[in-house]
Amino acid sequence: MPVEICQIGPCFAAEVKGVDISQPQSRENVAAIHAGMDRYAVLVFHDQQIDDAQQLAFTRSLGEIEHAIGTSLRAPDEYRLPTTFADVSNLDKDNRVFARDDRRRLFGLGNRLWHSDSSFKATPAKYSLLHALSVPSRGGNTEFAYMVAAYDALDADTQAEVEDLICEHSQIFSRQQLGFTDFTDEERARFAPVRQRLVRTHPVTARKSLYLSSHAGGIVGWPVPEARAFLRDLVEHATQRQFVYAHRWRVGDLVMWDNRQTMHRARPFPADEPRDMRRTTLMGDGPTVAQAAA
Ligand SMILES: [Fe+2]
Repeated sequence: MPVEICQIGPCFAAEVKGVDISQPQSRENVAAIHAGMDRYAVLVFHDQQIDDAQQLAFTRSLGEIEHAIGTSLRAPDEYRLPTTFADVSNLDKDNRVFARDDRRRLFGLGNRLWHSDSSFKATPAKYSLLHALSVPSRGGNTEFAYMVAAYDALDADTQAEVEDLICEHSQIFSRQQLGFTDFTDEERARFAPVRQRLVRTHPVTARKSLYLSSHAGGIVGWPVPEARAFLRDLVEHATQRQFVYAHRWRVGDLVMWDNRQTMHRARPFPADEPRDMRRTTLMGDGPTVAQAAA
């Protein structure tokens, strides 16, 4: 069955038909999926009954994976999934829903702010692939905002102003916005800020996009309050509804998105219900800008 890619909703989201993720992919399928990701920035695959090994094999057929080591507040002996997965569920290693005030859950609530995955790493993520094993009875959508359209809609003065700006990203900055500041010295060291360009250029389409994320908490050379006010305005601009696709999850959905061209956020759902979502991640090509000397 040939791969078919049909636009859904806004111009940057599409549904893929004719791909069974549980199976090894042909060279043609891999090329079609990559072309789909260049043309769109969010691809939806419905009804994928896959296990972790199949999700991992599919992800690896598209590129080199990024490991999730030391990026959450789970201690190494508290991991529910191997480090080839980012565990974005609300479950502990025995598959029990976190207590409402569990600090691992509270840290995870940072995913409800607009962000781009791993923008806090010197080499940030390329694609994320999120598979739904269980979904809550209500809420829990993931929303995506298209940073190419957001860039295009900026006036020329603002485009010129952002062109060469460098931001500092850290998970500490995103959590600060929620009032979560309870970090140990070890965690503060682990979450030290990295630098990212504010404007990125897509390597295939050459289109520019705003590389925003709630992890961005500063602009190199700017006073912090001014940088944060400026970034807040940009996020407000970039997440207007005309730039947003809201994905309503069904069990078995796999959604793949390009972190270079989109931001996303999870929406609230009942705190006592399990939401088992498993993310594999493709690593980016390299840093977006040289890092400051340590
Ligand atoms: Fe995310």
